[in-house]
Amino acid sequence: MYFTKLFCHFVSMLFCMFFVNYIKKLFCIFAIMRIDIITIFPNFFEGPFSHSIIKRAQEKNKVKIHIHDLRMYSENKQKSVDDYQFGGGAGMVMNIQPIDKCISELKKERNYDEVIFLTPDAKYLTQERCNHLSSSKNLILLCGHYKGIDQRVRENLITMEISIGDYVITGGELAAAVLTDSIVRLIPGVISDETSALSDSFQDGLLSHPIYTRPSDYKGWKVPEVLLSGNQKLIQEWREEKSIERTKNIRPDLHK
Ligand code: ADE
Repeated sequence: MYFTKLFCHFVSMLFCMFFVNYIKKLFCIFAIMRIDIITIFPNFFEGPFSHSIIKRAQEKNKVKIHIHDLRMYSENKQKSVDDYQFGGGAGMVMNIQPIDKCISELKKERNYDEVIFLTPDAKYLTQERCNHLSSSKNLILLCGHYKGIDQRVRENLITMEISIGDYVITGGELAAAVLTDSIVRLIPGVISDETSALSDSFQDGLLSHPIYTRPSDYKGWKVPEVLLSGNQKLIQEWREEKSIERTKNIRPDLHK
């Protein structure tokens, strides 16, 4: 009797867990992701976000991207957003006040999964991080400039910092565009053939295999025979082999 009760309890618990997960997934499919980008160059994003997949994602209501001009949140007359560094040193530092005001106003309206600061002195953007962020509902991206931002912003307002590589670009805008693109293309339904996003380089920790299209012979440069054979098993084996070979040669650090 006791065991039957325990068993029923266990089964109902499993069912609940399964059901909650299912609802969460459904919610993810139908939810619209919102990305708020804070920048001193609001017009910068007109180009990158009005083409290709990211444009279609917005048209299909899979993502809403809102750009906020940081200067509008500055409380001084000149609408300045930066100042000299305490202790001396070259380069201007972005002030806390406008950043705090902008983030606080956004947070009053909704909860955010992450408040991300784009900066070269942070952990790298990886496919794993993109996959994780693509299931977020609301994200704030803060684009840095000048020498950097007041450390107190990083300590009190930012929840995640991302670098797109070991090089310095003029501002965080390009990095924010890279991050947005890499996340948005992973939202379910954005790319019609979802397997195409799943077969991107890095999704399985490997670089992608070489790809070809017509003509099969161009000036004597031939497509590998196996790809023309129609034998899917052999084609799959060839692709895996090439993926591993390319990863070993180009990115040995990725090859386990
Ligand atoms: N801002 C300047 N350089 C950057 C980088 N490499 N990654 C992210 N943000 C940046």
